[in-house]
Amino acid sequence: MSHEFTATVTTAADTIRAEPSADPTRFEGDALVLFLGPDGIAGGAAAELDRATGGLLSRLINAGDLTGKRYECVPLLAPPGLSCGQLLVIGTGPAEKADAGLLHRAAAVAARQLSSRPRGCVGFLAEGRWTNEQLEQAVAGAAVGMVGQDLYRAEKKQHPFGVTVWLEAAVEVVARGAIIAAGVNLARRLVNLPPDDLYPETFAEEAATIAGRVGLEIEIWDQSRLEREGCRALLAVARGSSRSPRLVMLHYRGPGKPGGSPDLALVGKGVTFDSGGLSLKPSDGMLAMKCDMSGAAAALGAIAAIAALKLPVHVVAAVGLVENMNGAAAYKLGDVVTARNGTTIEIHNTDAEGRVVLADVLDVVADLQPRRIIDAATLTGACMVALGRDIAGVFTNNQACCDAVTAAAEAVGERVWQLPMDHDFDEQIESPVADIKNVGDGRLGGAITAAKLLERFVRGIPWTHIDIAGPAFADKPRPWITGGGTGSMVRPFVELARRTEHTKD
Ligand code: BES
Ligand code: MN
Ligand code: ZN
Repeated sequence: MSHEFTATVTTAADTIRAEPSADPTRFEGDALVLFLGPDGIAGGAAAELDRATGGLLSRLINAGDLTGKRYECVPLLAPPGLSCGQLLVIGTGPAEKADAGLLHRAAAVAARQLSSRPRGCVGFLAEGRWTNEQLEQAVAGAAVGMVGQDLYRAEKKQHPFGVTVWLEAAVEVVARGAIIAAGVNLARRLVNLPPDDLYPETFAEEAATIAGRVGLEIEIWDQSRLEREGCRALLAVARGSSRSPRLVMLHYRGPGKPGGSPDLALVGKGVTFDSGGLSLKPSDGMLAMKCDMSGAAAALGAIAAIAALKLPVHVVAAVGLVENMNGAAAYKLGDVVTARNGTTIEIHNTDAEGRVVLADVLDVVADLQPRRIIDAATLTGACMVALGRDIAGVFTNNQACCDAVTAAAEAVGERVWQLPMDHDFDEQIESPVADIKNVGDGRLGGAITAAKLLERFVRGIPWTHIDIAGPAFADKPRPWITGGGTGSMVRPFVELARRTEHTKD
């Protein structure tokens, strides 16, 4: 993958670069993308383009063919007076609503459209009035939108551009956008890999490769280390599979931040395939279950980007990698497993495996005493019933922590919504024989009972759980992204790390 943290950060910025003072009318690439709102041409570069084309843009606006409506995509082929192959006008909707998240999507829509055939060079015209945050997210959007899910297809449906040029944009901002996109595309690729190619061992190898490229410290716990550590909950889930589990921890210490405990711990559910185990899923529900490691992919993509951006924070990412299968040694209903922290969990449904895996990963991370723990997990279908496909559920033991996560997500245009953590739900996971059971009573409030189980393992450290069962994976394409893995939560995690102040201790 050409843009995926290749060798050094500068290479990533090589194929996506800024030309701060280029003349857009002389731009010679295959296509030039112009962002336009319903207020029409505000001046600046758009006005120059309009003049150079003899008023083509204003004529189309007056005729109602160019409205600037959100995500409207109008290609003007061989535009007179310009040097580019086509001018693609992408609608942003009203300026006051065109925040970083919207521009991310608008840029992605344009890029996705143009990537339908190979293009050597595509230009994007940044608007002078955009903030750095808006520009950065637009750059990331373009780089995400041009990448499809073609890994296993001879005839590609999408073709990443040879070079992307951001005109009238600052070099560092474009470089940062490219790095963020590399994190998102890494997560998407891992999610899209078939489960027989991406399993715990190969996920760990991918993590090691990425760690080498961006300079992260990595620790990989194999089966025997997990046994020695007493991660018997995680190991119980793994037992039904011929693939052995892994726990991977990545450490990033920002410039001038050597020792001490982490400012932020990112935890991810890494079930590389979820068959449901003995509580087997029906075929329809199983098909997309290669996506059940999306939380782990988000944690890895985010910490890689955080490292490449050299943010001045201390971050650790930890992922629990297992395959949930129904082999001869599979864990059974009625089994009682003892988690690393000593809590006994009675298994009432082997398909509620994510929380059992995360119980041990959260405990391992709590040993490091991070200031905050944020986990991302494709944890429950119930969360999708509550919030739909586009909105992640957030759950917390600490409102300030949750508010920080929400603010970071909103700032980059990913939707989250907080669900309550009332005490009644604790009673629902009481077990007749063990400390707790791994499901609630019936299906009602299932996303909350799952979160309640996780809460038991964070030792009171400020923690927010993000249930990404909805947004992690798209069954159908959307204008800004093809189907498959979406890279959900990579950008919020990076944003959160950026907003996290390092504390000396
Ligand atoms: N990985 C699934 C949740 C999921 C469902 C993710 C759909 C993405 C899309 C999880 O392990 C699971 O199976 N949860 C069960 C829990 C139930 C048995 C209490 C569910 O949601 O049905
Ligand atoms: Mn499951
Ligand atoms: Zn699962």
